[in-house]
Amino acid sequence: MTSSFGNVCAIIGAQWGDEGKGKVVDIVAQHYDVIARACGGANAGHTIVIDGVQHIFHLLPSGCFHEGKPIILGAGMVLHLPTLLEEIEEMKKAGFDVLPRLYISSEAHILFEYHKKLDGVFEEARAKKKGKGIGTTMRGIGPAYQDKAARTGIRMESLDADLTSELKERAESIKEQFGLDIDINIELKNLEDARSVLKGCVTDTVSLIHEYLEDGKSILIEGAQGALLDLDHGSYPYVTSSSTTISGALQGLGLPPKVLKSCIGIAKAYCTRVGEGEFSSEASEDDGNRIRERGGEYGATTGRPRRCGWLSVPDLLKVVRLNGYTHWNITKLDVLDEEDQIPVMMSDGYQNLPGWKASTKGLTSFDELPENAKKYIQFIEEQTGVPVAFIGTGPEREEMIMKE
Ligand code: GDP
Ligand code: IMO
Ligand code: MG
Repeated sequence: MTSSFGNVCAIIGAQWGDEGKGKVVDIVAQHYDVIARACGGANAGHTIVIDGVQHIFHLLPSGCFHEGKPIILGAGMVLHLPTLLEEIEEMKKAGFDVLPRLYISSEAHILFEYHKKLDGVFEEARAKKKGKGIGTTMRGIGPAYQDKAARTGIRMESLDADLTSELKERAESIKEQFGLDIDINIELKNLEDARSVLKGCVTDTVSLIHEYLEDGKSILIEGAQGALLDLDHGSYPYVTSSSTTISGALQGLGLPPKVLKSCIGIAKAYCTRVGEGEFSSEASEDDGNRIRERGGEYGATTGRPRRCGWLSVPDLLKVVRLNGYTHWNITKLDVLDEEDQIPVMMSDGYQNLPGWKASTKGLTSFDELPENAKKYIQFIEEQTGVPVAFIGTGPEREEMIMKE
């Protein structure tokens, strides 16, 4: 199966995450044979809405409602196993047994409860020292990647091993360094639960994904977080601990750049951010509150209110360079329906574009858009040099314009 985006397509967030990646993955997945997540962990919250029912994915890819398609969790991921089991169970309740088609990289790292506890300890220490933390999702992401980089992480390949003495040593060292008590019995119980469910799923996913390609199968890559949260190129230190660009996604799956045919950048028609860090186009309190309410801008993972602001052309140009986007999906255009004018940040200040003051909710054709909404989209294309392929007009699967 191949779509007009070629046999290997990636969906990569262009802002600070929560751009609406889940929805477009779910839509595009119908044209792909295999759906793969590459990096990050349960800090991600990817939402899809089908027939009014909302589903939020943290570790499983958002394409898993497409029956029969293999799902890969790549080596770049850090996996909190109880969360994964919960998601598998939720899918089962919804009538989808994903286990027979779930492939987990033996190179992916296990994220333990102690990583979550350490996330809290490090955030507290930062808050004490600097007056504020990073505002992490508290999902243990930083500490898990810290272990990986220090080459002390425990990978999925060890799921079958007896980790008692290793975990005991870790608990002792954490107690010594941070005065933190770790209950290794909980860790061991979680491992045991996971072992019984996931036993048959852990495999060499690098060989697997290449075999799929050799067999002519198409691959959809679901990025997590957003390019401005990238560990190297984001607003450091207010970033996540993985590489969130296309390069990180390819690395996380063991794919070489030459196989990639398209990379769709996902950007809201405005901008949001959860957690601390610079946000130069952040809106005034009144404007921000209005956008937050209209856009339902509350974290899918933590429920935190998202900071809201306007599109920034310099930021978009930066992420176009980082990711080589071939197309845009501009999401949540409908959220701006009531605006009189829409400020867009340029390199020399704001430019106000006229609003359209009409409903775009649920529209599916570009021709139906109000003139100023069309102009807004064309402005983004002109400024970034990247064509817009999709425009989101609501959270539902069907509320999407496919633009020529
Ligand atoms: P992700 O992390 O990039 O997958 O995005 P999230 O799921 O965290 O946040 C996006 C939110 O916007 C979710 O609540 C989606 O249901 C919703 N959403 C996605 N696309 C649209 C759209 O075009 N219009 C509106 N109004 N909501 C959308
Ligand atoms: P999706 O995939 C939005 C942010 C956190 C915090 C920073 C570091 O749903 O777009 P971490 O827990 O990763 O150490 O937090 O990164 N962050 C996200 N913000 N969407 C996400 O994922 C995010 N994943 C991490 O809010 O500012
Ligand atoms: Mg999200």
